[in-house]
Amino acid sequence: MKRIAIIALAGLVAAAFAASAGADSVTSLRGATDIPAANPAPAEHEPKTVRGKFERTFKEQPPLVAHTIDDARKYKINLRQNGCLDCHDKANYEEEKAPMVSKTHYIGADGKEKEEINKGRYFCTQCHVPQMQAEPLVNNTFVGNVGTK
Ligand code: HEC
Ligand code: HEC
Repeated sequence: MKRIAIIALAGLVAAAFAASAGADSVTSLRGATDIPAANPAPAEHEPKTVRGKFERTFKEQPPLVAHTIDDARKYKINLRQNGCLDCHDKANYEEEKAPMVSKTHYIGADGKEKEEINKGRYFCTQCHVPQMQAEPLVNNTFVGNVGTK
């Protein structure tokens, strides 16, 4: 008997919670769109590229990829192949006329520079991303720290 009462009480509490969650609707940065609802897909954007490099926004930023990387074969990164290193590796960047991968990416666990890239830096697109011609989804007041101490 006692157990049934506890179960019934738990049910009531859960129902009360559900009702209150519905009452206070939370406004997300997506505005009036309900939280579980999907936004309409963004319009297709043109890629944004530069010759040379994009200016960095903050000092510690992994530089933005200056070119497109949508050719799935050319830019593939897997166990056997790394399209990015084909041009950016220190062994061949000069021939490919590409900027060399940062020296920091060749430092091994012992703190010394190696000939091969540190495997922690192998998946380039984990940190380096290409750019699109798009307006920010949400306005913000971010100020970079490039040029500050
Ligand atoms: C065919 C050669 C080639 C390949 C492959 C390539 N890049 Fe590049 N990359 C370049 C060149 C050349 C530049 C200099 C900008 C320019 O002129 O396009 C560059 C610029 C960059 C920069 C800007 C560097 C800076 O200092 O701001 C980054 C980051 C970069 N590439 C990352 C990548 C990543 C990540 C991949 C793989 C997904 C990749 N690249 C594949 C040739 C290549
Ligand atoms: C864990 C994040 C991370 C990964 C993975 C990574 N990078 Fe970087 N990369 C950075 C950061 C941060 C910088 C800027 C600071 C520095 O030089 O270490 C940078 C700098 C660079 C630069 C500019 C060098 C310069 O002298 O201005 C190039 C080119 C580059 N990375 C290419 C690559 C390529 C190609 C790969 C994949 C083989 C790769 N990175 C993987 C974070 C990363």
